[in-house]
Amino acid sequence: MNINIGDLIEGEIIDFTHEGNGVMKHEGLPIFVEEALIGDVVRTKIIGVKKSFATGVVDSIVKPSPDRVEYRFDIEALGGGVPLIGYSYEKQLEWKRRKVRQDLLRIGGIDVKVNPVIGMGYPFRYRNHSQVPLGKVEGRAVTGYYLRKSSEIVPMEEDHLQPEVADQILRTVRSWVDRYDISVYDRNSGEGILRHVGIRTNENNESMVILVTTFSQIPNKFQLVHMLVRECPGIASVYQNINPMSSRFTYGREYIHLFGKEKLTDYIGDLQFEISPDSFFQINRQQVKVLYGKAREYLEGEKDDIVYDLYSGIGTISLFVAGDVNRVIGIESVKSAVKNANENASLNNVANAEFHYGKAEDLFPQMIGNGVRANKIILDPPRKGCDKELINAIIELKPERIVYVSCNPSTLARDLKLLVESGYMVGEVQPVDMFPHTAHVEVVSLLVINKDHLY
Ligand SMILES: C[S@@+](CC[C@H](N)C(=O)[O-])C[C@H]1O[C@@H](n2cnc3c(N)ncnc32)[C@H](O)[C@@H]1O
Repeated sequence: MNINIGDLIEGEIIDFTHEGNGVMKHEGLPIFVEEALIGDVVRTKIIGVKKSFATGVVDSIVKPSPDRVEYRFDIEALGGGVPLIGYSYEKQLEWKRRKVRQDLLRIGGIDVKVNPVIGMGYPFRYRNHSQVPLGKVEGRAVTGYYLRKSSEIVPMEEDHLQPEVADQILRTVRSWVDRYDISVYDRNSGEGILRHVGIRTNENNESMVILVTTFSQIPNKFQLVHMLVRECPGIASVYQNINPMSSRFTYGREYIHLFGKEKLTDYIGDLQFEISPDSFFQINRQQVKVLYGKAREYLEGEKDDIVYDLYSGIGTISLFVAGDVNRVIGIESVKSAVKNANENASLNNVANAEFHYGKAEDLFPQMIGNGVRANKIILDPPRKGCDKELINAIIELKPERIVYVSCNPSTLARDLKLLVESGYMVGEVQPVDMFPHTAHVEVVSLLVINKDHLY
């Protein structure tokens, strides 16, 4: 292929990658272009050439996409986490639907109608957990995000993806850093104390603030607590987290409780959850309710059903469907999540859901072998999809209904292919937009047994 680093190539962006980069083609070779949107005609500067694709950056936009949108705020300041933000929301949803349909067809050989993506009425301020790095520019505190592949922090005054109260909390932390001259962490040298501010906000706009520091001593920390309580509405709790490591993880292992409640209470529909600073909780509370509502609808729970919830996390889907069925059995490979799930069941007075620690591919066949059978199954695996051993065990059990929740349409397609080849029919495929302005797509799909084709 006649293409070299430094070449300038003009073309139209025709698709997005799963990371949200634009895709154009040159003599059949795909070129992945950062910060380009479908419909843009761009002059791309090539920065990498591989056997089957090239990468590039926008040198200039020759003709902007007709689907570009303008905002009253500076979208550049939101950083690289939301690559589709300049593309109209309606078009984002259309692209996500197309992507699910194409993956099912191309990878799974499944030719099925995909429902229109359920989007958000107001696709902003939806993130209920932010982890924001701190730095200093010309001696003054800044919060923002790390420039890609760099230790430089790009300051951000307002983040339109998090609740407004989180913007206020960050302003207060910055003024505390300036007033008491608190040292901030430098990713290059590994020196400095204050690294990140974690903010979790619940449905009622109450917040848990988590100061991430390299070691436990920080001067004037209780002055910060006073300032937060005085200046920001709804401060429910303040923690310090100690992270001495130079790892990419924001939080370290140790938490010190500084103020207020130990846990934040949040809700998904009628269910209540107690969230510790280290608990996993869904980022977009509003859409997760929609997603679980669909899962519940597809399950068509009946009073004598026995249901396995495989990859059950902190038990949210199980608790959502438990009232409709006889028994729910969750399996999850993270011990603390299993503990949380059992606590969440008690908190919500759910007596017919139980959670077991183990790998779904090991424990599920074992439990079935021990006679703990089920007629319906929920699957919600991580991005890599289900283990093949697990799919085989499910096929052997022959449950009448499988509800598969997926955050990765390509592994969903791979797994559905195996199930369809073994006698299941895809009933419905419903994408739900959990992360507006990113290229992520969440899908809930229903499989029912096709008794005529079982072998
Ligand atoms: C996409 S999350 C779903 C969690 C939960 N259903 C929810 O909605 O919050 C996937 C979960 O699978 C768990 N997991 C990953 N590999 C697993 C395995 N082999 N067996 C069981 N659980 C696993 C992860 O710890 C995570 O909690």
